[in-house]
Amino acid sequence: MKILVINGPNLNLLGLREPEIYGKKSYADLLALIRGACERENIDVGFFQSNHEGAIVDAIQQAYGAYDGIVINPAAYTHTSVAILDALKAVGLPAVEVHISDVDSREAFRQISYAGKACVQTYKGLGFDGYVQAIRFLKQYLTEGRV
Ligand code: DQA
Repeated sequence: MKILVINGPNLNLLGLREPEIYGKKSYADLLALIRGACERENIDVGFFQSNHEGAIVDAIQQAYGAYDGIVINPAAYTHTSVAILDALKAVGLPAVEVHISDVDSREAFRQISYAGKACVQTYKGLGFDGYVQAIRFLKQYLTEGRV
């Protein structure tokens, strides 16, 4: 089973950016945590991070035929990008949305998720652990076709 983990803009600056919201751990720490979870779950994992909307669309398109599912934190593009929503719908791979912070308790503009409309599940406000939950959910979803 192969899962692609996609992270959007500014998530490469984890640890530096607003640590009171996103924590003090780095993007490298996040990848190490996900890698460990995937090893335990016997999942092949790939990573992609970009600050550019079109590059994320390209990565979703290229996941077709190469990965079984997607875990995605589109970051700020969550709240603006119909292109990312359409890419997820186009490839039709099961996708799980993750947000480190609890977007529902933040500004009103963060409470709309376009990408989430193409996702089978969302984890928000769980910090880095949301990615681990997403990986586990996706494995079960891909194995059993439902959860
Ligand atoms: C985020 C929440 C978004 O609103 C924000 O723009 C981000 C990160 C999160 O993980 O909590 O960049 O997706």
